This record gives sequence, structure tokens and C-alpha cells, in this order.
Amino acid sequence: MNNSPFEKEIIDQKIKELRISDPGKASIREIVALVNLVEEETGQKYVRMEMGVPGLPPAQVGVVAEIEALQRGVAAIYPMVDGIKALKEEASRFVKNFLDVEVSLKGCIPTVGSMQGTYAAFMASANAVEGKDTTLFIDPGFPVQKQQMMVLGQKFETFDVFNFRGEKLKAKLEQFLSKGNICSIVYSNPNNPTWICFTDEELQIIGELANKYDVIVMEDLAYFGMDFRQDFSKPGQPPYQPTVAKYTQNFILFISSSKIFSYAGQRCGLMVISDVLFKRDYSNLQKRFGGTDFGSTITLRLLYALSSGTSHSAQWALAAMLKAANEGRFNFVEDVKEYGEKAKIMKRLFIENGFSIVYKNDLGQPIADGFYFTISYPGMTGNQLVSNLLYYGISAIALDNTGSNEEGIRACVSFVKREQFTDLEHRLKLFNARFSGKY
Ligand SMILES: Cc1ncc(COP(=O)(O)O)c(C=O)c1O
Repeated sequence: MNNSPFEKEIIDQKIKELRISDPGKASIREIVALVNLVEEETGQKYVRMEMGVPGLPPAQVGVVAEIEALQRGVAAIYPMVDGIKALKEEASRFVKNFLDVEVSLKGCIPTVGSMQGTYAAFMASANAVEGKDTTLFIDPGFPVQKQQMMVLGQKFETFDVFNFRGEKLKAKLEQFLSKGNICSIVYSNPNNPTWICFTDEELQIIGELANKYDVIVMEDLAYFGMDFRQDFSKPGQPPYQPTVAKYTQNFILFISSSKIFSYAGQRCGLMVISDVLFKRDYSNLQKRFGGTDFGSTITLRLLYALSSGTSHSAQWALAAMLKAANEGRFNFVEDVKEYGEKAKIMKRLFIENGFSIVYKNDLGQPIADGFYFTISYPGMTGNQLVSNLLYYGISAIALDNTGSNEEGIRACVSFVKREQFTDLEHRLKLFNARFSGKY
């Protein structure tokens, strides 16, 4: 029986062409390539939920500042590898205004997207202390960071936090940390892909254990302020975006401009290293990379070797966006609330058609509506669901790509246009009719 709105043969042929052995196990970029080919051949549009591309225009204040910077001629000049002063100043103010945390200018460092920031930080932290060479992922997580581990040839361990929320997190983390091989802990908050948001109690547990076992916490704030259940948008006023930086000095924060400012194309993010960690000397690190303290090794050895700094004009853009947010002229949270609104509608459409939310609770509260949600369909593994949905014009990635132990898929709302909701509903109805046996 086949009621699929897309021609099965074309999809199968493109899967073969790309040499994808199992679309259910494909990476994000493989799904992107496959769907591009099918769209091109059929002229039909997919409901694309596989990749976190911002679906909003870039923040105008950034665009204007970047054009001005280019017209001033900055393109001709190498920027300082640790960032231009205007950006460092606004970044330090932003961290104070929106996290209520003090960090000196030198610890606020631009990177070529958060991706480059985590890459350099993984490298530094795994080489800081002899015998501590393994990164611990609090999963589910962002699959590309595992790819970074693979490229670096570094070790990692992981667990799915689904059953270890609240105070249960402590014993679970200690199980790993007490072995003595963990150099760093990584997580995103709000979480990609589940949209769970760690509470202050959980961040305190992470921070205190980082102190006890002397590990570095890498807090990925790619979705800064996007837990829309609270208003984190007012500079210098509580509530603040919760952060581990309240509980430990062993932190590196990653603030991406890609989602909060819809500035993904310019690849300019921030790495924020605590003052204490920045100036710490690790003899192993000095031996390995020939630098001095931790912060200078990251900037003058690693970032210098990787890209010799971050695009000069994009730094001016980011400085201007942060400045406008710091001065209360630009409410960046308000601008991205659309994602939460769309998530609410899309979740309803899936649930009405036989799907369930996988990570549906956030410590007893229903999960918030944001950039991602997770869904499953009865009797199907996540991999089967990805494959089957492809024939119904819906693309996503399986949860097992993210370190989750649950069966299901990650749905990213950002790239789906409201005009596509009718198509989405129609396709989900066909899918459900086919797989619930009603067709
Ligand atoms: C958790 C997380 N970290 C980092 C990134 C990438 O950030 P950037 O575009 O700044 O490299 C993403 C993008 O989807 C993400 O979801």
C-alpha cells in the first residue's frame, strides 16, 4: 500500500546516488543533501525539520554595523586573534546584564561560530591534566560536537539525562567523575534536541561537582534566553538566564549569534572563559602547545592555528547587536519567540495524528515550546520513523544521533514556514492513515 505524496522511486534513487546505506542513520548534512536532490527533481517542497537553520531575518542592527565596518575598510586588516576591543567590552557587559556574572574583557573571545569555540576548548581541556583526557556529554546533545571529538581523535563518555533530572543528576555525574579520567562536562541549555532546561538546582550540582573533581564545564548557550516560560530579555534585571557560572569558576560559556540574532551565516560566536580559568597554568598544556596560561593557550596557540581570528566585519556586527541588547534598544528574545509559537502548533498537528512527544516533561512541568521538540510514532524506531517520513515529504534526524536512549526523532521548527502547516497536516494524516492501518 502506498499513499505517499512523493514518488518513492525518486527518493530511493537519490538515496542510492548519495550512497546512504540507511537514511534513518544519516547525519544532518546527509539528510540535507538528500532532500535538496529530491526537491530539485520533483519540484515539491519538503517540510524541513532536519537542520537548525534560523528561519528569521538577521538582526538589522548587526547587518548595518557590518556594512559600515566593511565600508571603513576593516576587510583589509587582520583582527586581533582574541577579538576587537569593542566586541570584548560589549560581550563582558552582556554577560553581566543577562547572566549576572562578571568576566573580564580578556576572557570574552570571538570564535568562528560556537563550533570553533568548542573545538578549541575540547582540545585545550583534554590536554590540560595528565590522565584526564575524556569529555563527558550530558546527552541528548548536538551531534556535531561528537563529530568534533572524532576529528580530534579524543575520547568521550555520555549518558542520557532523561532519567537523571533534579537531585538524581548528582549520583549519576559522580559515577563518571569519580573515575578520574574526565576533563570536561558539556551540555546545552536550553537543550538541543529535547528543549529541557536545567534548573538552578541542577546547575549547582554540576558546578559543585566541577569544583570537587576539578573539571571544566562547557555550557553551550546557543539558545540563550529562549526558555520562553520566563522573560530573560531585560538587561540588568532578574530573572537571568540560569548558568553554571554562578556555582563554579571552572567554566567556559559559548554564546552563539546564530540563533539568538539569526546571524548563522557570518559564523561569529563568543567563547567566555572565567577569569580564574583563564589565568590558570597547566604544566601539561604548556608542554603540549608551548603556551602560557589556559586562556592565552586558547587564543594565541589554538585559535591562532585554527583560523587566526574571526571575521573582522562580523565582529563589528556582533559588537553592535550586543550593545543594542545591553542598552535595552534591541529585545532579542522577543524577536525569536516565533519559534515557540510555531512549535506549539506543530506539536499539536503531530499529536492529533498519532505521534507522542518523547521528552515531554521538564521536572514535572510540560516541556516548553521552543526551537526543537522530540516525537515518536507507535511501533517504529527513530530510524524507521526518519525513513518513513521521508516518503511523506517530512525530513528530520533520529534521536539516536543525539546520544538519546529513546526511540524517536528531533523536529526543528525554525525552517518550517507557517504557510507549510497545511501541507504538514495533510502529510501527517496520510502517514497516520497508512501506518495505523486505516488506509
Ligand atoms: C547546541 C548547539 N551548539 C552550537 C551550535 C552551533 O553554533 P554556531 O552556529 O555558533 O557554530 C548549535 C547549532 O545548531 C547548537 O544547536
